[in-house]
Amino acid sequence: MVYIGIDLGTTYSCVAIIENGRPVAIHNDDGRNTLPSVVAFDDDEILVGNPALDCNTDMTNILYVPAMFHPDQTAATKKAIELAGLKLKYLLQEPTAAAIAYNEKKRLGNSKLLVFDFGGGYDIYKKPKLLKRLRIECRKAKESLSFSNKPINVHLDINDDYEINVKLTKEKLNELCSDLIRKSINYTDRALNMAKLSANNIDNVILVGGSTRIPEVQQKMASKFGKDKLKFDINPDEAVAYGAAIVANAIEV
Ligand SMILES: Nc1ncnc2c1ncn2[C@@H]1O[C@H](COP(=O)(O)OP(=O)(O)OP(=O)(O)O)[C@@H](O)[C@H]1O
Ligand SMILES: [Mg+2]
Repeated sequence: MVYIGIDLGTTYSCVAIIENGRPVAIHNDDGRNTLPSVVAFDDDEILVGNPALDCNTDMTNILYVPAMFHPDQTAATKKAIELAGLKLKYLLQEPTAAAIAYNEKKRLGNSKLLVFDFGGGYDIYKKPKLLKRLRIECRKAKESLSFSNKPINVHLDINDDYEINVKLTKEKLNELCSDLIRKSINYTDRALNMAKLSANNIDNVILVGGSTRIPEVQQKMASKFGKDKLKFDINPDEAVAYGAAIVANAIEV
C-alpha cells in the first residue's frame, strides 16, 4: 500500500510520499513540485494544473478550490478524494502538518513552535482573459522582487495599438502589500494571545506558504521574534505535504 500526503492549497497543491524514510514531493510533468489548484473542463478533456491555467477555455468553466475550508467544503474535499479512487486516512490541519515535517527533519523536541502560513488565499471571481494575463504578469513580477532589488517591468500587449508597461519597484510592492502583511502579523498576535504566550516564549518560527518568501514578510517576523528563530529548512511550498505524508505512513486507521 502506498500512502501519500496532499496539501490541497487554494493556489498551489503539492503531493508527497515517503522514500527511504524521508518525505519527498512528487514532480509534475514540468518538473515542478507544486501544481496550480485548477481544473478545466474542455469539450472532451479534463485539464489539471498548468495546462488548465494556460488554456483558453472560458474562465467561468474553471473550478478553483475555495479559499476557506468550511464544513461543507471539507465534505466536498472528502467526496473528491473518494471520486479520485483514493481512501482518506486522516484530515490534518496545515500548521500541524508543517510542524510534524519540521520535527522530522530538525528534531525540534519540546520547543515551542509557531507556524506562520502565508499562502496564496485564492478567491473565486470571474476573470476575463485580459485580467487573467495581467494577473499572471503581476504575480511573476511580485515573485521576482523577492530575489532582486531591481525594478521589474510588467508588460502586457493589449492589442496592436495599446500596451501596458509599468515598472514595479520593491518599495511600491511593499506599499501595495502593507495592509495584507499587517493583517498577517495581527493574526500572529491573536494566535499568541489565544495561546497565552508572548513572542519571547517562542523557540522556533516555521515559515510555510509561498508568500513567506517576500523579504518584507520575513523582516516583520524577524523583528517580532528575532531572526535566529525563523526556520527555512524545508521548502515553504512542500512542508505541509511532507507532514501529511509522514502522518499517512505513521498512523494505523
Ligand atoms: N518568490 C516569491 N515571492 C513572493 N510570493 C511568492 C513567491 N513564490 C510564491 N509566491 C506566492 O505564494 C502564493 C502561493 O503560496 P502557496 O502555494 O503556499 O499557497 P496555497 O497553499 O495554495 O494557498 P493557501 O494556503 O492560502 O490556500 C502565490 O500567491 C505566489 O505568488
Ligand atoms: Mg497553503
